[in-house]
Amino acid sequence: MLQGKKILIGITGSISAYKIPLLVRLLVKEGAEVRIIMTRMAREFVTPLTLSTLSGNPVYTDFFDKDDGSWHSHVDLGNWADLYLIAPVSATTMGKMVNGIADNLLVATYLAAKCPVYFAPAMDVDMFHHNSTQSNIKTLVDYGNQQIEPEVGELASGLVGAGRLQEPESILQVIKSHFEKKKAFDGVKVLITAGPTFEAIDPVRFIGNFSSGKMGYALAHAFAEEGALVDLISGPVSVEVEHPGIKLTSIVSAAEMKNAVDTKVNDADIIIMAAAVADYTPEQPSTNKIKKKDNELVVKLKPTADILKSVGKTKSNQQILVGFALETNNELENAKNKLRTKNLDLIVLNSLNEKGAGFGFDTNKVTFIDATGNVTSFDLKSKTAVARDILNKIESLRKNKND
Ligand code: CTP
Repeated sequence: MLQGKKILIGITGSISAYKIPLLVRLLVKEGAEVRIIMTRMAREFVTPLTLSTLSGNPVYTDFFDKDDGSWHSHVDLGNWADLYLIAPVSATTMGKMVNGIADNLLVATYLAAKCPVYFAPAMDVDMFHHNSTQSNIKTLVDYGNQQIEPEVGELASGLVGAGRLQEPESILQVIKSHFEKKKAFDGVKVLITAGPTFEAIDPVRFIGNFSSGKMGYALAHAFAEEGALVDLISGPVSVEVEHPGIKLTSIVSAAEMKNAVDTKVNDADIIIMAAAVADYTPEQPSTNKIKKKDNELVVKLKPTADILKSVGKTKSNQQILVGFALETNNELENAKNKLRTKNLDLIVLNSLNEKGAGFGFDTNKVTFIDATGNVTSFDLKSKTAVARDILNKIESLRKNKND
């Protein structure tokens, strides 16, 4: 079942660490390859010898091996794993994960890992319910990690409540269903536009905007993770594509973006226009660099083609078309108008009035408006988490279309 799957387990200091050797045994029996990182504190609760014997691999705690001077690379371990399970995870380690405090191998590997991360908190009931712990758990989930919630029961302290690490058999089930899960967008073709466009004034100057491309790239990664074949058409940005399921086409101007969309749009099942496309472009860009003069400079602009609107006109009944709206006033009303005039299935409204949301930030606060008039507002969250919300919404729109 888990044949050949590479599972990395991070163990922190908690009484419940005693359950991990049993979990390692179950995983190995299922055919998984298991490697283990322990914090110093974890070694007080369960021995590395037990774990290395059961996993058949050395157990890591430090960046260096004092005996032979070898270096344990957190990057290599993070790249090796198909899944990183941090269990039990203490309140301290969650605090470090949230704040990027990589002062041990376990947390450094968490920051370097490209695979899905599951974390299973285990601690006393009052610690678990403390606002700090709950807020750290929420942040970790917002960052895209999956929580294996603790059970309610009798705790080592004698108190009764939530905080018990799930039994090894239950954790095994979570890991098995992770690998069994059919991906929601397997083979579905998704076309995404992202980033700004730059409109040339002369060979060295342009009119652009502050779009970072982060939202569009987060969407591309979310869909690729769920098995989609993603065509990403992007303006000039500094974010990078990190998934083999994403095919990147780089463009500069609105006209180039339109050409790229036109050649790919008929083939797409889902089209998401997250780009901040220039609405105007210089009517006649100068072929030579414009020289400085004493009088004012007037650059005459002409409108660009509205790519989203033209796709809305020609889209088929089966295609799902999603647009973004960035508004500063009459937000909901303007977004609803765009949804209607551009013939969209869904519009994602960003507000520039929200602190921490919009251009350049890693977070966003959005409202969804769909073609049936449903309006859903979300809290401020990471663009990765917003991308997942958009993906889930599109999944339900697709179900409704196919029913
Ligand atoms: N868009 C597009 N082509 C353009 C302009 C915008 O495809 N030439 C798309 C954007 O990718 C976004 C949506 O249209 O999904 C909304 O963009 P926005 O600039 O908010 O709206 P506009 O229709 O341009 O209206 P305005 O700027 O007046 O608000």
